[in-house]
Amino acid sequence: MSAPRIVIAAGGTAGHVVPAIAVADALRAEGAEVSFVGGQRAEAELVPAAGYPLDPIRVEGISRSNPVKAARALGKAMYSLIGEAVERGFEARWAELRQRVDHLLTFDAWLFSTPMWNFGLPYRLKHYIDLIIQPTMAFTNDAEGAINTHGDGKIAILIGAGALDIRPGAALAALDFGLAHLAQCLRVYFGVREIHEIRVVPTFGDEASVERAMAAARTDTEALAISLAGRAGGRG
Ligand SMILES: Cc1cc2nc3c(=O)[nH]c(=O)nc-3n(C[C@H](O)[C@H](O)[C@H](O)COP(=O)(O)O)c2cc1C
Repeated sequence: MSAPRIVIAAGGTAGHVVPAIAVADALRAEGAEVSFVGGQRAEAELVPAAGYPLDPIRVEGISRSNPVKAARALGKAMYSLIGEAVERGFEARWAELRQRVDHLLTFDAWLFSTPMWNFGLPYRLKHYIDLIIQPTMAFTNDAEGAINTHGDGKIAILIGAGALDIRPGAALAALDFGLAHLAQCLRVYFGVREIHEIRVVPTFGDEASVERAMAAARTDTEALAISLAGRAGGRG
């Protein structure tokens, strides 16, 4: 049997890298072929010095307190992994995707109207979001890997229907992985700052409460439409 090939991702401080090298040594002693991936910190020196190959990627720590910094780190990691070359045979599909994102970016306002499915977005919308959020399309990375977003100045209107009342502040609000997720993706990866959320909830229950939810959503939508139309009129 050929030797198992093992890759170790460890980086940052010697406190992370040294134990990883100890594990690598033990694996190598058992006959494994070990290599590392990592960034430019302690691993850049310690790993080659210990005799292991290091595949460099551009990364930074994920901030636990600042979501924008955390997302920037994720964007940097995506950029490192995806790189710039498109796998052969997939060029036309990437070109089509780029065209779709470019088309999306020609609009001033984006309106998403979606039901909640299993506390999240319906799979087709989730798929669309995962497709359009690509480095060089939704955002570009500068030489350091930091994100420069392409949707700054856009207005997003998110309308979400659901059987349960998961509005912010409601008892079940923590179950919102739908609009909250969509808003976060648009904010961080496209740089959209103006996001309006309208909830059509609950759509399940006694007739009176469903009717109340529909009426409230109608009122909110009309008020938003009037205010946006007023601004558009003012502009032009
Ligand atoms: C597959 C599926 C999963 C659903 N999951 C949830 C859910 O997790 N939470 C919720 O509040 N409603 C859930 N619903 C209910 C819909 O969000 C609700 O009926 C909504 O009003 C549908 O909007 P629509 O009539 O515009 O399609 C689900 C519906 C379907 C079909």
